[in-house]
Amino acid sequence: MTHSKYLVVGNWKMFGTYESSATLSRHLASHIKMAESKCEVVICPPFTLLSNVAGNLAGSGIKLGAQNCAETIKAEGAFTGEVSAAMLEDVGCEYVILGHSERRTAMHETNKTVAIKAEAAHSRNLKAIICIGETLDERKSGKVYEVLAAQLRDSIPYTANEENTIIAYEPVWAIGTGESATTEQIREVHEFLRNNMKSFLPNGITEIENKIKILYGGSVKSTNAQDILAIKDVDGALVGSASLNADEFLGIISATKKLQD
Ligand code: PGA
Repeated sequence: MTHSKYLVVGNWKMFGTYESSATLSRHLASHIKMAESKCEVVICPPFTLLSNVAGNLAGSGIKLGAQNCAETIKAEGAFTGEVSAAMLEDVGCEYVILGHSERRTAMHETNKTVAIKAEAAHSRNLKAIICIGETLDERKSGKVYEVLAAQLRDSIPYTANEENTIIAYEPVWAIGTGESATTEQIREVHEFLRNNMKSFLPNGITEIENKIKILYGGSVKSTNAQDILAIKDVDGALVGSASLNADEFLGIISATKKLQD
């Protein structure tokens, strides 16, 4: 069963004011019919908006996530500017996106950094959405599988299991460009990840019944969601810009319903 339950995650990145986030989260909360959907929906606003969005989502069934956490398992301490996994748990987060390519590039996050952050997330029962993906140069030079394998091997901590870890395949060249990867490119990579996942998990952790979810991210929108989500081994989507538009995001969520009916 590949498509037992889709996971759709909205990554708001560094967007949103107190006002705009309240409008968007309230709209989503009142329009999402979670009871009818077998899809799990998560919204990841910037840190400053987490508390307010948590209040607006209460009772809607939509889960809260963050976009990063501190590289320490300490709940608190002298780490100016950082937000711990414990603080995310405290504000109501159940998920955290880690190792997004924008952080790997702009903040110089390494696989090791990502693994430490994921371990911190796991220590607070947060589900870590670990992002991987190749650049256009890496794809052109035929290194896709090599790059993805290295990212997975080194970014997944020994605390990972099929419940607390989700992988998001996001080809860097498809993020924020409006052009997603083709369905064939997505199918090939997801098949590779699914078939080899066991060998990427550390310390003999076994992937029970292939349960680790593998999301696709990179220019997912309401118009291509159904085609992408129908691909074997695609268990959901990590959505950037389309998650900032209520109708677009709701359209992506409805696509999962059509596929499950
Ligand atoms: P995009 O972003 O949907 O705007 O391409 C995806 C992501 O960065 O997670």
